[in-house]
Amino acid sequence: MKAVVAGASGGIGQPLSLLLKACPLVDELALYDVVNTPGVTADLSHISSVAKIQGFLPADDGMKKAMTGADIVVIPAGIPRKPGMTRDDLFKINAGIVQGLIQGCAENCPDAYILVISNPVNSTVPIAAEVLKKAGKFNPKKLFGVTTLDVVRAETFVGEITGERDPSKTVIPVIGGHSGETIVPLFSQSKPAVKISDDKLDALVNRVQFGGDEVVKAKDGAGSATLSMAYAGFRFAEKVMKAAKGESGIVEPTFVYLPGVAGGDEVAKATGLEYFSVPVELGKDGAQKAVNIVKDANDYEKKLLQKCYDGLKGNISKGIEFVQNPPQ
Ligand code: NAD
Ligand code: LMR
Repeated sequence: MKAVVAGASGGIGQPLSLLLKACPLVDELALYDVVNTPGVTADLSHISSVAKIQGFLPADDGMKKAMTGADIVVIPAGIPRKPGMTRDDLFKINAGIVQGLIQGCAENCPDAYILVISNPVNSTVPIAAEVLKKAGKFNPKKLFGVTTLDVVRAETFVGEITGERDPSKTVIPVIGGHSGETIVPLFSQSKPAVKISDDKLDALVNRVQFGGDEVVKAKDGAGSATLSMAYAGFRFAEKVMKAAKGESGIVEPTFVYLPGVAGGDEVAKATGLEYFSVPVELGKDGAQKAVNIVKDANDYEKKLLQKCYDGLKGNISKGIEFVQNPPQ
């Protein structure tokens, strides 16, 4: 298994690369960034784990060398938010960065699983799909927007209420997109069931939807979530790799192109959207089945979903438009 981190020298990229270097599923790890990969690579190379590591910069065809032969590419490249910014404010810079990296994937590793972390995910995933479509290399089963941090947050915040020793043991579907009101936790579908009292529900939903702001505010200008995101990004990447190696029964919410995934049409019909995060069963070929959990939402959650659909629609078309009608 060859894994690539694109944006490997950044706040997410470094701890994510550390986790992948330590992961026994990874045989080869390639770190790509526009700066500092020699240092990050030298540092991680002293770890006595399975993965052989190499670092690349853009010079000397670095992106091509990093991506050739890749089985999985994880992309946390791009600028993070500062206080007062929305994720959409990142579009101007990050759209082009993602476009360039996905073009690289199309040319050098079209069969790899591609995991997009760069914000705004609601738009960068449609950008990625459009770039791959244009190149004739789009496999919707292998393109994933990483929304795992929302799931991790929901597990953690619910754990604070229930007192459960290991919060990750409660499965809580968080669906929709990855920003503010497009993030919809379905606590009614938690397994095992959790009872959230009415007086706590609004605040809990709000904390999951705006958990990113909590970190941006606390970092006070020094960026957004990096360590928890590296944990979440690794958790999702590890699931994709385990499924690729034949493990069955792995299901995790992720933002996918619905018409290209089995079961996705049903979700697209229910939501009126082509892209949406729902629990997806992972298999050897990637996204094997999208689960239509939207239909199980209770009345309270249906209201949240309506707001989500409205917000997501614009974010998705903005991404598509960026590639189909490039800004002059
Ligand atoms: P950062 O600024 O610390 O790191 C970004 C890295 O990307 C830098 O090392 C930079 O050199 C590199 N980079 C820039 N352009 C590049 C290019 N063309 N090719 C390769 N590398 C390039 O930022 P960060 O805190 O690591 O966040 C990265 C992105 O992840 C941001 O857009 C942030 O909003 C997003 N994010 C997403 C989630 C999520 O849940 N999906 C969570 C947290 C952060
Ligand atoms: C998060 O949810 O922490 C990330 O999307 C980063 C951000 O901008 O909040």
